[in-house]
Amino acid sequence: MVKAMVVHEVGGPEVMKWEDVELKEPKEGEIRVKNTAIGVNFIDVYFRKGGYKFPLPFVPGREAVGVVTAVGPGLTGLETNVVVPVPPSIDHKVVAAVLMKGMTAHGLVRRCFKVERGHTVLVHAAAGGVGSLLCQWANALGATVIGTVSSEEKAAQAAEDGCHHPIIYTKEDFVERVNKITSGKGVNVVYDSVGKDTFKGSLQCLALRGYMVSFGQSSGSPDPIALSDLAPKSLFLARTSLMHYTATHDELLEAAGEVFITLPLECFSCSDQPHIPLVRGSPCPC
Ligand SMILES: NC(=O)c1ccc[n+]([C@@H]2O[C@H](COP(=O)([O-])OP(=O)(O)OC[C@H]3O[C@@H](n4cnc5c(N)ncnc54)[C@H](OP(=O)(O)O)[C@@H]3O)[C@@H](O)[C@H]2O)c1
Repeated sequence: MVKAMVVHEVGGPEVMKWEDVELKEPKEGEIRVKNTAIGVNFIDVYFRKGGYKFPLPFVPGREAVGVVTAVGPGLTGLETNVVVPVPPSIDHKVVAAVLMKGMTAHGLVRRCFKVERGHTVLVHAAAGGVGSLLCQWANALGATVIGTVSSEEKAAQAAEDGCHHPIIYTKEDFVERVNKITSGKGVNVVYDSVGKDTFKGSLQCLALRGYMVSFGQSSGSPDPIALSDLAPKSLFLARTSLMHYTATHDELLEAAGEVFITLPLECFSCSDQPHIPLVRGSPCPC
């Protein structure tokens, strides 16, 4: 027997129960991992509340680092699609904290809308898990980064993570402020994980032919919009999911590799070397 947090019915945090569970042998295509560190993601909240459906009862948690202790029939190693090898030089706690959020950021800035030097981007929840990585990555790619946060403390955190213009949305209107910062031009892309509270304002912040990239709904699902709402600025609209950007094992390895190892750009600390340690505090490969 081992202990696990089990959800028998959807609801508030009180539905999570700390219980004995039996460890079963892995079935075909499954592996068993002894976790050394786990990550917590907003998706765990969606599952616990029932917004995203999962068969009950379930053990929440989508992200962990550990050692493979058993391999089910039909597998010989790491070919199962949800597992990646972790570089030994990176602390397991860092890996657990960053991998899923980092791969989400990778899909957003490197694949959905490719951020380049000279772009201006708007990141909502800029001091959050994915948001802080988006700020670091977009900054490293040479973009001007604007971010929204709820407090002074988060504004300072976002600035430390490379957000050039943190906006405290509890004190000022983010649409007006983005308009001022960009001299009325708007931003090339908005990465919006907040949803209901920000979606319409995000559309207003976009430049001509800008990209509205919705990837979450922390405040609730955005209200529906008409296709014709995109027409006045010829906007693009995407609703992305990490799953679809890591659909094959090769895509998963590529995304994880970009998060952990290098990017073909300047390093934060070694300006003469062409790569970035994305996670601050992790060893630079220079
Ligand atoms: N599409 C995908 O594949 C994918 C993958 C990973 C994550 N996500 C999404 O990315 C978002 C961020 O995930 P995360 O794990 O990194 O969490 P997080 O950013 O640490 O937390 C969400 C942040 O959103 C802001 N927020 C604004 N309104 C909110 C509200 N009504 N309720 C709660 N938070 C609110 C808060 O920051 P302020 O205090 O600054 O407002 C909060 O800290 C989530 O929406 C998640 O679903 C999507």
